Amino acid sequence: MAERTVLGICGSLRRGSYNAALLDLVEEVSGGVRVVGADLAGRLPLFDPDMENDETAWPEEVREFRACAAEAEGVVIATPEYAHGPAGITKNALDWLVGSGGLMGRPTLLASASPGQAGGMRAHTPLMPTLTLLGAILVDCAVVSRAGTRTDASGRFTEPAVVGRVRLAVGELEEALGHAAHKRAPGVL
Ligand SMILES: Cc1cc2nc3c(=O)[nH]c(=O)nc-3n(C[C@H](O)[C@H](O)[C@H](O)COP(=O)(O)O)c2cc1C
Repeated sequence: MAERTVLGICGSLRRGSYNAALLDLVEEVSGGVRVVGADLAGRLPLFDPDMENDETAWPEEVREFRACAAEAEGVVIATPEYAHGPAGITKNALDWLVGSGGLMGRPTLLASASPGQAGGMRAHTPLMPTLTLLGAILVDCAVVSRAGTRTDASGRFTEPAVVGRVRLAVGELEEALGHAAHKRAPGVL
């Protein structure tokens, strides 16, 4: 299968992050998906319209992140849930893409992992209007609960149920990537 490039957005800065491990798993189970820019979301400055309007003021991370988004055919977001909402890093990264139309028509997989029973799923709902505005095409939501019991000693997700569920989600993403080019359209008219 041809290699497909997708933008990775990891909403966690934590060492040993379960959400970072989810992004690694996406590459592992895919038939050739390359996740780019996954470490950038956590290094972006807080979104500032004044900075956005003055490209000369952009730090390198903003340039790289926008370039990755422009190059990517799809998107994988892996976000922690903090206080029943998405991590600020995740929303901040999406805010940096509003001005560039960066997710228009991009098949998008939304994922979360948490030690809790809900697996971080309450982070998903508040992101839906933002993803719609950005023109992302949501292909699946993957949620991993009790994350600490499902990783090996090196922090990788190895439990067959998790690997199988993520493989299913990535299969949906890869299928959507195959015909997404014909579907570029704004989410809000
Ligand atoms: C301040 C704070 C708030 C949190 N709030 C929630 C929450 O509302 N729901 C939940 O399931 N987990 C919550 N958690 C637990 C995180 O989901 C957990 O730390 C998770 O592992 C973070 O993702 P990461 O492993 O990718 O860093 C919270 C953690 C912190 C530090």
